[in-house]
Amino acid sequence: MTAKTIIAPSLLASDFSALGEEVDAIIEAGADWVHLDVMDGHFVPNITFGPPVIAAIRDRTDKVFDCHLMIEPADPYLAAFAQAGADIITVHAEAATHLDRTLQAIADMGKKAGVALNPSTPATAIEYVLDRLDLILLMTVNPGFGGQAFIEPVVDKIAAVAAMIGDRPIDIEVDGGITPDTAAKVAAAGANVLVAGSSVFAGGPGAYADNISALRAAADNARG
Ligand code: DX5
Ligand code: ZN
Repeated sequence: MTAKTIIAPSLLASDFSALGEEVDAIIEAGADWVHLDVMDGHFVPNITFGPPVIAAIRDRTDKVFDCHLMIEPADPYLAAFAQAGADIITVHAEAATHLDRTLQAIADMGKKAGVALNPSTPATAIEYVLDRLDLILLMTVNPGFGGQAFIEPVVDKIAAVAAMIGDRPIDIEVDGGITPDTAAKVAAAGANVLVAGSSVFAGGPGAYADNISALRAAADNARG
């Protein structure tokens, strides 16, 4: 886990008709990573975009492309996301039949490996793959849509995961309903990477820097 709070705006809340400019704008506004929500209309009840769209915006920045795959199965598509420019490939535990094998495949492609857990999935789902993980993504909403309300009981799971990973260098990322208010709660519990869609993109490009700063300040204060 890094000492610094990492802010990862989710492009799901951006203007898709100007995706490249939106990437430029969030980087200019201080974003650390770019969070890419890939949905298949099967694992989650929504469809977004895939490798060609990610490849099309890859040259906009050298920042980390954080790919959150909400797809089932994921294995047949891992290479395509790696080639499109993903730096981190995160799969859902609920969508992986052979999670350990999937994580090895991501590592073999030279990419960082993450596992996402839905709000109802217990932390123990990742207990025996911890040493293969670079990142654990705890969903603080049910995946599929932006703009949903934060699910409070996940805060306890963040603390449980933080205790479980000990001193392993694993990032704890949260995703869904993150505002300055909830950022403080998740950061206090141990999260160091904050994904935010609605609260970053609210107000248009002129507001992005202030929106990102507000999230960062809330999290930094809470983490001491
Ligand atoms: C939800 C996605 C999130 C989403 C977050 O399935 O994984 O990344 O964009 O959106 P907000 O921040 O609006 O809850
Ligand atoms: Zn996401």
